[in-house]
Amino acid sequence: MSTRRTRTIVAALAAVLLAGSVAACGNSDTGGGDGGDGKIVLGFSQVGAESGWRTANTTSIKEAAVEAGIELKFDDAQQKQENQIKAIRNFIQQKVDVIAFSPVVESGWDTVLKEAKDAGIPVILTDRAVDSADKSLYKTFLGSDFVKEGRLAGEWLVEQTKTATGPVNIVELQGTTGSAPANDRKEGFAAAIAANPNLKIVASQSGDFKRADGKQVMEQFLKANPDIDVLFAHNDDMGLGALEAITAAGKVPGKDITIITIDAVKDGMQALADGKFNFIAECSPLLGPQLMELVKKVEAGEEVPARIETEETTFTQEQAREALPNRKY
Ligand code: AHR
Repeated sequence: MSTRRTRTIVAALAAVLLAGSVAACGNSDTGGGDGGDGKIVLGFSQVGAESGWRTANTTSIKEAAVEAGIELKFDDAQQKQENQIKAIRNFIQQKVDVIAFSPVVESGWDTVLKEAKDAGIPVILTDRAVDSADKSLYKTFLGSDFVKEGRLAGEWLVEQTKTATGPVNIVELQGTTGSAPANDRKEGFAAAIAANPNLKIVASQSGDFKRADGKQVMEQFLKANPDIDVLFAHNDDMGLGALEAITAAGKVPGKDITIITIDAVKDGMQALADGKFNFIAECSPLLGPQLMELVKKVEAGEEVPARIETEETTFTQEQAREALPNRKY
């Protein structure tokens, strides 16, 4: 039996038992969260609107919900974990059928996830993972292999620098501190560049996945390190911000400093096609349609795989020029 039907029956029984007193209180919540129109209700807590990737992800989720006939309760947490926890608690109170969220950081979710489980509401993780040891707290994860993205970025650099005879100085713009993509991309990149002892990360700091922060941190990097050869930015937006800092410092991005990023959103692809970036490992934000399929399945009580990974690729400058005209986001 679907979780929605189970909760509706429980709510209906409770309503019969409490009929008199409830009527006196004027509480019109009928349970089931669907407002009586039979639609599945999905509560979705989004990280924020920090990047072009995130905007594309939000659009994908909103459009896919309409397409799938799912009622979406959407909350923007403005990159704050406390806001996401509050949103999830609200969804539990509203008795939504399914909760999905993209956790801003990896740690600190067990209590609220247990509350959702106790309320019988299945949870789907999208885009970012949590580090909870208890895997029964959520039904599935849908998103990218961030370690692989970092590794692909590092492997490209290893290939490009295989004839280098001296040190290659790398600066790294990390994503949001404590987030799965920042942790994993750092790990994957570091593991790959270990293949060439000439490759050295001389500075590494968070730019919070934002363009403005990427610019500001790159300015500091340039002041402190006169000989930067490579920038590895954990997303396009920070790389785009860094472009401004590099140009203002009188250097030519893509030539004086090799720039590697992750995401492949339109602005990033344009910078790559224009020769300002050198390589991008893709991270797809178009998770909406797959998420809605999963919502229907978990709501119906069907088994789903524990982890579903998005198919992704990489882009050189030439490949970006070819792909750009048909890029959706
Ligand atoms: O979690 C995915 C990451 O979050 C994207 O790479 C980044 O652009 C976004 O803000």
